[in-house]
This record gives sequence, C-alpha cells and structure tokens, in this order.
Amino acid sequence: MTASGERDTAMRLDKYLCDMGAGTRSEVKKLIAAGRVTVNGLPEKNAGRKVEERDRVALSGEEILYTACEYYMLNKPAGVISASRADLRKQEERCVVDLIDSRKRKDLFPVGRLDKDTVGLLLITNDGQLAHRLLSPKKHVGKTYYAELSRGISREDMERLSQGVDIGDEKPTLPCSLRPAEGQQEPFSRIYITICEGRFHQIKRMFAAVGSQVTRLKRLAMGPLRLDESLPEGGYRALTQTEIQALYNSLTVK
Ligand code: URA
Repeated sequence: MTASGERDTAMRLDKYLCDMGAGTRSEVKKLIAAGRVTVNGLPEKNAGRKVEERDRVALSGEEILYTACEYYMLNKPAGVISASRADLRKQEERCVVDLIDSRKRKDLFPVGRLDKDTVGLLLITNDGQLAHRLLSPKKHVGKTYYAELSRGISREDMERLSQGVDIGDEKPTLPCSLRPAEGQQEPFSRIYITICEGRFHQIKRMFAAVGSQVTRLKRLAMGPLRLDESLPEGGYRALTQTEIQALYNSLTVK
C-alpha cells in the first residue's frame, strides 16, 4: 500500500469487486458468471482474472474504481462506540464506522478509542500499518484534548499532572503538557491537555488524581492531524493528501 492509498499489485477480479462492496465473494462470482462485469470494455467471466492498476473494471456498465485505503476524519458524537462493526458485541449498538456513509471498504476501523461520552477527532481508516504506528507507545504521538472539569484545579495541580501522576497503574503517567483555556483565573476548570500515551480512560483518571472530574472531553488533535472545526458532531470528511502525508511524515522523522 502507498501513502496515497493506491493499490500497488495485481489482484483477482472477484476480490477487486468484493473489496469495493459489490457483494460477497459468492455474489460477485455470480455477477461475473452472468456477464455483468467488463474489464477494459470487454465482458469477463473469469473470476480469477488478474486485474492491474491500469485496468478499467465496470459492473453493469458503471466503472468501479479501486480504493485500497480510505482515510476519514470524524467529529465523533457522544453516544457512539469507538469500534469497527466486527468488534461489536451487540448488533444494535451504533459504532463510529456506521457514521461513514460514503465508505467503500468494509474493513474500516477507528485508530484508537474514545470513550462513549467523549467527542471530537477520530481517524477512521483501513490502513493497518499507519494505525499501528500511530498507536505505538514508542512513537509518542501527541493527542490534544479539551477538558471541562467539575472542580477547578490550581497551577500546582497542573504542574503535578504535567510531571506525571499515579493513576493506579504500574507506572505513573508520562510527562504531558497542559494550559488553561482562555479567559479564566485560577482555579481552572477548562483545560487543554496533550498526552503521548493512550491508557484506558487516561484523561479522566489523571484529573481524578488531582481531585476533579471530567464533565466534557473533546479530542482536538492527534499528531499533526487537527479536528476540522467546520465538521458538526457526527460529521466527517475524507482526509486530504496533505493530511495523509503529514501523518506518515510525522512517524518517519522519529
Ligand atoms: N482519556 C479519557 O479519559 N477518555 C477518552 O475518551 C480519551 C482519553
């Protein structure tokens, strides 16, 4: 797979169509056998025919372009679970991938998890290699959140949090950066915080360690990727090539 999400090898015709959501493998085989599929304008009845980048595949006269990797930025709303369809235990639960109506691929998943009540930036893709690297603890990818707190915290509390606190795990949290949101005086109840780890309920547990509770949590950034504030909660858009490239670049320089 390339950084631009292009396909770099030949593949079977039935897999090509299946990947692009034309049906299950057996449904696609039937479509091919019925003569509904053409390659470069000629009917193709061999499901195992290898198609390459330059080949034009059409189903019932409509060209099907291949997308190897898809990348979406979702402004996650509250009440939706950060999981792929395949991860869901209860079929009736709504997961973040269901919100991407225009998806072509069936193998999309969220990169990392946000709690059900957390809103904001979530990267959704099927690029496993990129996801793996973004989530690797070794890469120290920064994640910035905006948090509203039940009780304001002092500068001293912020200093403690920035140095690392005990949240009941084996090790204290790693150093992180915090700043109060604009227009407040101490104690601060609206905070921007950037962490380089991804422990379970980490932000909530960190503020709990200094005696406060998170009442609203929104993720604003992940590495170089910033939430597009023009997206309403529940809204999404495809990443631009520049954003995809910036994510890759941020991982190779370290
Ligand atoms: N930390 C949390 O506590 N919750 C999230 O959803 C993300 C980070």
